[in-house]
Amino acid sequence: MDLRTNYLGFTLQNPIIVGSCGYTYSVKDVKSLVENGAAAIVLKSIFEEEILWEMESNLAQMQRPMTIYPEIYDFFDLETIEDSVTKYLNLISECKKEVDVPIIASVNCISSHEWVSFARRIEEAGADALELNIFIMPSDLNRTSQENEKMYFEIIDSVLSVAKIPVAVKLSYYFTNLASMIKQISERGVKGIVLFNRFFEPDFDLDTFTVVPTNVLSSPSDLGKSLRWIAIMSERVNCDLCASTGVHDGKAVIKQILAGAKAVQIASAIYRKGPKVIGEMLEEIKNWMNEKGFNSLDDFRGRMSQSRSLNPAAYERAQFMHYFSEKF
Ligand SMILES: Cc1cc2nc3c(=O)[nH]c(=O)nc-3n(C[C@H](O)[C@H](O)[C@H](O)COP(=O)(O)O)c2cc1C
Repeated sequence: MDLRTNYLGFTLQNPIIVGSCGYTYSVKDVKSLVENGAAAIVLKSIFEEEILWEMESNLAQMQRPMTIYPEIYDFFDLETIEDSVTKYLNLISECKKEVDVPIIASVNCISSHEWVSFARRIEEAGADALELNIFIMPSDLNRTSQENEKMYFEIIDSVLSVAKIPVAVKLSYYFTNLASMIKQISERGVKGIVLFNRFFEPDFDLDTFTVVPTNVLSSPSDLGKSLRWIAIMSERVNCDLCASTGVHDGKAVIKQILAGAKAVQIASAIYRKGPKVIGEMLEEIKNWMNEKGFNSLDDFRGRMSQSRSLNPAAYERAQFMHYFSEKF
């Protein structure tokens, strides 16, 4: 049974990548994930602000004026931010020494400023690829959707102009025309697009009157959004698509491959069941392939993408119409 797949130019032994999360922030955990079958690892994101902080400190030492966002002082604990760049580069090089799967560094970015030169240092530390986790909250009443989208293009173009390793972009679904945005990004030279990131959603604490995060981990019922969009876009883009959010078992991996994904990323499943879930998922995929007579992922990849479907409208149906008009 051949579970190999190509993603970002690498041949992965299977389609399961552990996505950026707390489990991909130490060499020990990364080793355990790989021992349990992970085919690649996306390291926990380093934040643009952390990179800028280091640059800012260097500038200050050279007695140059402070230029970079003041907000940095609000968001980060200055005790821990200090060494975060060095620690991140060490994490990359240590992981490369210890495991034999692609190590994908991740930067959480919101602008195309000076930090992009850091992409070079990520390469030098040995990262095989770079995932840009870009999210600009579309909440600014004075910014049009085109202006918002332009910010994404600027970040991607500036990173691509310095990076030699493959670059992937991890997106949210907060776009005015999601299909067009995914297509345009795929045409800029990125090797992969990850659909979708998951964010803290706000909830209210009714006793303290404060905003608190809720539903940090996904559940299997969260699969639908990425499944729909991988199926709609998979044969319409110039790069690999990787599915993220709601992949908790082997069946979900199979569905995403049927939709056309090259690979999937998992995070919440690891938090809920531990790294051994990867082996269980791989077993489930093999059993299903055996039952259906498939020898490789390419035997069924994209078979349920929208462009190969006899009923493409099924992927665009969004309103309930007459469905569920009965109470159940
Ligand atoms: C605790 C936690 C931390 C995360 N940290 C990051 C991060 O630093 N960068 C990032 O791109 N995604 C991060 N994610 C998002 C995951 O990589 C993933 O895209 C998301 O959780 C959806 O996948 P899942 O349904 O398998 O959890 C994090 C997720 C969790 C649960």
